[in-house]
Amino acid sequence: MTAPSPWRLSVAPMMDWTDRHCRLLHRLLSRHTRLYTEMVTTGALLHGDVPRHLAFNEQEHPVALQLGGSEPEDLARCARLAEQWGYDEVNLNCGCPSERVQRGAFGACLMAEPLLVADGLKAMRDACSLPVTVKHRIGIDRGESYEFVRDFVGTLHQRAGIEVFIVHARNAWLQGLSPKENREVPPLRYALVHRLKRDFPQLTIVINGGITTDEQVAEQLQHVDGVMVGRHAYHEPWALAGWDARFFAAPASVATREEAEDAFVAYLSTLASSGTPWPLAARHMLGLHNGLPGARRWRQVWSDHHLKTLPPAEVARRARAAMRGGAAHTPAAAGPGPCTGSSASPRTTPSLPTLQENPP
Ligand SMILES: Cc1cc2nc3c(=O)[nH]c(=O)nc-3n(C[C@H](O)[C@H](O)[C@H](O)COP(=O)(O)O)c2cc1C
Repeated sequence: MTAPSPWRLSVAPMMDWTDRHCRLLHRLLSRHTRLYTEMVTTGALLHGDVPRHLAFNEQEHPVALQLGGSEPEDLARCARLAEQWGYDEVNLNCGCPSERVQRGAFGACLMAEPLLVADGLKAMRDACSLPVTVKHRIGIDRGESYEFVRDFVGTLHQRAGIEVFIVHARNAWLQGLSPKENREVPPLRYALVHRLKRDFPQLTIVINGGITTDEQVAEQLQHVDGVMVGRHAYHEPWALAGWDARFFAAPASVATREEAEDAFVAYLSTLASSGTPWPLAARHMLGLHNGLPGARRWRQVWSDHHLKTLPPAEVARRARAAMRGGAAHTPAAAGPGPCTGSSASPRTTPSLPTLQENPP
């Protein structure tokens, strides 16, 4: 059997969601799913705090950095940084419809300027040896033509040598819709993405948008090389736990939700002991038990801000008790915090992920 494409299954870049903590949780659940950062603009990277934007945990591989920008020279410098910091791929966002992004002349509006995009991508390719990929829509505004996206892909392939295209299968309406509406209102047209694969069989075509079940993933893989899942992966992280076995013919990374939770709580403890507020990371785990009895009570404990000064292991103990116990969690049940001499005893877990930074 040939090895599966590295792009067979991935979790989408999502601003404010797929930060390094979220990606670590996803990695605990699936060894092989490709992970993407939130979009980082070239401006933020070139004039801001590089370690804050680029540091990640070694366990996250394979992990891709997504950039937002359009200036070839800036994109080239950022692609070089991506390589120095150890990313496995650098991706250019040509799909974000937000007005802020349009003012900066990048994101989805770049689809109207394939030559400019090609220049930027070529500069990125020349600057680093990483795979340079693009994430885009099937069209902008009300344009219905397949030729528009076909020519966009063809131009980037011919002029910049791009070989991997991640296609969000709906248009971006640049006027009148919020970014959130732009992920829901323009209709999904998967057939156009399938047609891209037929017209460019040598390219890697990854489909994205509205995919929420393993059956849908399997069905899409009949037509394209890969599937990128966004909101479903975030809201239902346990879904990832079945992907290694089902889509990579590899052993599952974790057997139970509790095992995943223990490993992530160990990670939260290392964060807490290095002075990082652990609730920043714990929020990504809130969907872990969705669908099980007591999941709501478990979630309530983890999101109770009264508990945020407790050690994560103690919050975990209370959350499990609430989940099993049946009584609704109330902040009054929080008990003494660490400042008052809490009885909390940090728990050790078998699979403690080590925090390994990735300095260039
Ligand atoms: C909260 C949120 C933030 C997002 N941020 C980005 C982003 O930074 N870059 C990007 O290319 N797409 C972004 N997206 C779009 C997703 O990557 C994806 O294309 C979209 O959600 C459709 O896939 P889904 O239906 O599987 O969620 C974001 C989506 C959400 C929900």
